[in-house]
Amino acid sequence: MGSERITLLSSREIEKMRRAGRLAAQLLDRLAPMIKPGVSTLELNDEAERWTQAHGAKSAPLGYHGFPKSICTSVNEVICHGIPRADQILKDGDIINIDVTPILDGYHGDTSRTFFVGTPSPQAQKLVEVTEECLRRGIAEVAPGKKIGDIGAAIQEYAEAHGFSVVQDFVGHGISHVFHTAPQVPHYGTRGKGKRLRAGMVFTIEPMINEGTWEAEVLDDGWTALTKDRKLSAQFEHTIAVTDDGVEILTLSE
Ligand code: MF3
Ligand code: CO
Ligand code: CO
Repeated sequence: MGSERITLLSSREIEKMRRAGRLAAQLLDRLAPMIKPGVSTLELNDEAERWTQAHGAKSAPLGYHGFPKSICTSVNEVICHGIPRADQILKDGDIINIDVTPILDGYHGDTSRTFFVGTPSPQAQKLVEVTEECLRRGIAEVAPGKKIGDIGAAIQEYAEAHGFSVVQDFVGHGISHVFHTAPQVPHYGTRGKGKRLRAGMVFTIEPMINEGTWEAEVLDDGWTALTKDRKLSAQFEHTIAVTDDGVEILTLSE
């Protein structure tokens, strides 16, 4: 993947990405008020699937390399790719990342946020706030002429300054009519290193930040990635486009 060519999208394609991205953000807005103690992650999944179809879109995760559900729901120590389940009931104090990727008119909008269920512990609140700021700082690095490594460096510096660690096993990715393509966008790295950013590149930035060790392991279900030390992990994701003078976030809700 690292050596693949990076496709530059036309303005017509970026407009389609804008529509898909806006729909993805609206889907998270739709799910947000459902996140309360007592709700199951399957209920969130089923509402996401229903809403996505009602808006003329498809859920990219469903059947993707065999993923069994329409969204990823990653609770507490789960880093990413959590599978919604009827017997997983949210409880007060949990944190949950919801990651959605509708396909609209052939193009993908990929975004995630970490939500509090009820009242968070101070440490969970700090982790989630730092992770959201990591995404902001990563996005702030994006402009033509900057390097992929600038993004990861900004994220890593901020996370580690707060005593947290950066997951290395999962990275941001190019996205368009394809879900995952070049470039890979690590959330750690060195300023000035990596590929040069150019207008028309479209990719995700999706830092996963851990309370303890950065190390991950994957459950026997083949998907659920969790922290090796079972401490908390949080994530935020946007799909962005490199523009002539900086960056456009494609997955903002109005
Ligand atoms: N949305 C995830 C990402 O940010 C990918 C989920 S793939 C799935 O790249 F198969 F687990 F759904
Ligand atoms: Co995603
Ligand atoms: Co993604």
